[in-house]
Amino acid sequence: MNDFTFLCPTKFVFGRGVTDRVGAELGALGRRRALVVYGQGSAVRTGTLGRVLASLDAEGIAHEELSGVRPNPEVGLVRAGVERARDIGADVILAVGGGSVIDTAKAIALGVPYQGDVWDLFSRAAEPVAEGKPPVACVLTIPAAGSEASASCVITNDELRLKRGLSSELHRPAVSIMDPELTFTLPSYQTAAGVTDMIAHVIERYFSSAGPVPVTDGIACAIVRSLVEEAPRALADPADYDARANIMWAGMLAHNDIAGLGRSSVAGGRAGGWESHALEHELSAHDARITHGAGLAVIVPAWMRHVWRENPDRFLAFGRDVFGIEPVDPAEDAVDVTAEEAVADAVGATIDELQGFFVSLGMPRTLSELGVTRGQIPALLGTLEKNKGPVFGEFRRLTMEDARQIYESAL
Ligand code: NZQ
Ligand code: ZN
Repeated sequence: MNDFTFLCPTKFVFGRGVTDRVGAELGALGRRRALVVYGQGSAVRTGTLGRVLASLDAEGIAHEELSGVRPNPEVGLVRAGVERARDIGADVILAVGGGSVIDTAKAIALGVPYQGDVWDLFSRAAEPVAEGKPPVACVLTIPAAGSEASASCVITNDELRLKRGLSSELHRPAVSIMDPELTFTLPSYQTAAGVTDMIAHVIERYFSSAGPVPVTDGIACAIVRSLVEEAPRALADPADYDARANIMWAGMLAHNDIAGLGRSSVAGGRAGGWESHALEHELSAHDARITHGAGLAVIVPAWMRHVWRENPDRFLAFGRDVFGIEPVDPAEDAVDVTAEEAVADAVGATIDELQGFFVSLGMPRTLSELGVTRGQIPALLGTLEKNKGPVFGEFRRLTMEDARQIYESAL
């Protein structure tokens, strides 16, 4: 078990009706002026925004709105948000939405005290500073990215065709309001993409280079098993409260780092090499219509098939704990396979099972279904190398040639 430092200071307010408590929670933190950030209309249509504003009004918290955050959010709106937050003297940035909205709020908050262009923080030209940064709070409307408690923020720069993650402990929200009833209105595709993203967050950590860490690995596999059970229930009945609530909490657990503690090669850092996320982020950077989780549904199995031979035991452990898959024992089961073939079969069955699960939720199996063509792969590799360098990853180090093979295998 590797060393780690873990502090997740976010206060979680979870359950039925908690949306109406956001004003009281911010008031208790001494907040008086909120910049309320939301997306392209769902928060208005569902009435969530109205409830949030009423709750702020009841507490006497002044508010201004910044709307129009798109999925795979762009730095242009962040820049506008920084200006607005400064103009009104916002002392909290309140996101009402999912990962895209929360990440926009996080980037705005970091941008407020920074005197240069906020993109400098994502291009690593400057370091974020805590002083003068307003806290972020959120009312989560889609469980997926885990941004409600994560130390990450992902922003796209359309002009540069770059989608960049910025990890910082400063990102973790002060308060996350988690009301599962808000997710009853989610389209099936978004529910499914969210669940896929959560599973990917667990997998990125589980397949780090560390040896087994039973306590952490057990948490990781329990999250995946729960999602495999609950997601079909939520799709069959979008208003199944318990299914929605379990999915929402799983999304937080999958990405606040608890599912990777002791597995990181950098003390205090996040576990894993995040290979599938690196490969996926290029897809949604080049075409912002690609939903992050849908891209991962294609990339994660393709990455697994490419790298499993690096550590077959790790894959066998995952298959056993999540899906109950055991390799046949050629001696005991009297079958005509070698021990190596038995392992390859069990790993193959595990990856097939996982991919079959994603597809059963309505997620794509191939890049073609996402509109990605063979001719686009060189451009994806170009920005991947800019983001990650010529070699990246941890479970197995990947070259750009590996990345090309993974993309091509998924066409
Ligand atoms: O824009 P509106 O109209 O609100 O619609 C949204 C959006 O189209 C809709 N939606 C949200 N809540 C809804 C709803 N529709 C009906 N009812 C509701 N209650 O859902 C769509 C997707 O929203 P989005 O915020 O984009 O989803 P998600 O949470 O998956 O966020 C994706 C972004 O997060 C990044 C991704 O790369 C992507 O940019 N990630 C952020 C991470 C982090 N900060 O820790 C980690 C992740 O790995 C990920 O990279
Ligand atoms: Zn993700």
